[in-house]
Order: sequence, then C-alpha cells, then structure tokens
Amino acid sequence: MSKALRQPADLDVSRPSPARIYDYMLRGTHHFDADAQAAERILTVVPEIRDCAWANRGFHQRAAAWIARQGVSQFLDIGSGLPAVGNTHDVVQRIHPDARVVYVDNDPMVELHSRGNLDESGRVSVLCADLRDPDSILGHPAVRTLIDPARPAGLLMTAVLMFVADEADPWRLVDSYLRALPPGSYLALSHLTDDAKPPVSVDAFHRVFDRATGQLHFRSKAQVARFFDGLEFVPPYQGATPALTYSGLWGAEDVQLADSDGSRWLYCAVAKKPLSRSR
Ligand SMILES: C[S@@+](CC[C@H](N)C(=O)[O-])C[C@H]1O[C@@H](n2cnc3c(N)ncnc32)[C@H](O)[C@@H]1O
Repeated sequence: MSKALRQPADLDVSRPSPARIYDYMLRGTHHFDADAQAAERILTVVPEIRDCAWANRGFHQRAAAWIARQGVSQFLDIGSGLPAVGNTHDVVQRIHPDARVVYVDNDPMVELHSRGNLDESGRVSVLCADLRDPDSILGHPAVRTLIDPARPAGLLMTAVLMFVADEADPWRLVDSYLRALPPGSYLALSHLTDDAKPPVSVDAFHRVFDRATGQLHFRSKAQVARFFDGLEFVPPYQGATPALTYSGLWGAEDVQLADSDGSRWLYCAVAKKPLSRSR
C-alpha cells in the first residue's frame, strides 16, 4: 500500500471494500492493508482469482470498445471501480475522441481517485452513488448533461450486480436503466457464478466479504441470463452463436487460449436493446 494514498475523511479503512479488493487483484495501488489481507484470503481458497479479475477487466474493455465501434459514443459505467489501466474513457475515446462517459460507484475512494484521472474536456464525469437508486443516478445533472437520451448509449455493469442482493431486485434495477435508454443501446454485463465450483471454495470466498462494505451474491447461468430479458445477445466471438459466455471468451481471438479456470467464475454478455422490447 502506498503511504501517500489519499482517502476521504471518515473512511473506515479497517473494513475491506469490493473496489479496493479488486484493485489489489489487478495489482493497483488504491487499497489498504485490510483490503490486501482480504484479497490474500481469497487467493488461498481460489488461487485462480487474479486470472478471474483480469479476465473480467479484459471483457469490460473489449466490450466497451466493441460497443463504441458500433457507433455508440456515450457510456454509463455503473460500478466502475478504481482507476486502472485502460479505463472506459481511455478505451472508447480511442475510437470516438469526443466520447462521453459517466462513471458511477458507491465507494468514495473511486470518486476521489477517478477525479484526478479525468481529462479537462468535461466529457467525463464521476458520481459517488448507489446503483440501487436509479432515479437519483438517472436524474443527476452529470448524467443529464453528458448522456443524450435520444441517442443509443452503452450501459456497462461489469462485476457489480454480484454486490446487490436478491431483495433489492437487481433485475428490476437493470431494467430501470435500460428503460431510460433508447433502442439501439447496448448492455455489457458480467457476473460471478458458483456454477460447477467446489462448494467449499465458494463458501470461503463468500465469507471473506462478511466484514466488507459489500457482500457477495453468486448467481447461476439462468439468473444471469435474466438480466438480458428482452434484449438481443450479440455473438461473443467470431463464429459463435449469440449468447452468454465465460468472461475470457468474449471477444477472444483464440477461444481455446482465452479459456481458463479464472474466466469461468464469471458469465458475461453484450446485448442490444431492440426497437420493440417486450418489457
Ligand atoms: C469488482 S469491481 C468491478 C469494477 C469494474 N466494473 C470492472 O468490471 O472492472 C465492483 C465495483 O462495483 C462497485 N459497487 C458495488 N456495489 C455497488 C452499488 N450498490 N452501487 C454502485 N457501485 C457498487 C464497487 O465499489 C466496485 O468498485
């Protein structure tokens, strides 16, 4: 951990947070000792978890770039995480230099550290907000200024809904964001699964988050697929049938090389909002 790491006033650094544990997995510098210790405990029960984090981050970047290449130049990145190599605006502004991105995360460290990372153009903004309150996010001045509701947008919700309990109805929440966006918009989403995983690893993984600022919720393939109800999946890689897949495979040039135990902890997909959507 860097001694100079800036932190918001009154942050309880003794409790690990999902954003900072993930930062540790990606070998970032925005975490405290409690986050590093929690991450090391996960590594002892799921040794491939670092590969899982990289596979997810790779999916996030490939999906954002792919959506941009479809002509989309505005993005709402919810559960965006701490600044990392290849932030969304870095990726999509390579394709559309004037692309706009609003980052949303409920960890105050994300807002603090993302601010210093933004360009001066005013095309990128960051909000500290909880995705369980879509009205306040969609009504926020930054979103209203940067995201034109008349033009298709990219909604990025990668590795975030696993921190939302069933009681908060994450499927309804995703639907609320999609309803605010016009047809032709895309959803890119990834989600942790316990399908085909050793229950003892899943249980130990889960328990690391007991004291964290957000708890983990694993979901099955069918539960993850429900996030895409009424949308049209795009093929995850050349020659594939449009569908949900494992995180490493999406956008892979060589599917066999991209397949790995780590990447099989997350399902992911990109899907388009069609002209007529059933819900
Ligand atoms: C595992 S990281 C994923 C970061 C990034 N989306 C990616 O895929 O590389 C999960 C992020 O979701 C954020 N998060 C968790 N629950 C959230 C909530 N209810 N509202 C907003 N952000 C949330 C965490 O703070 C964390 O930064």
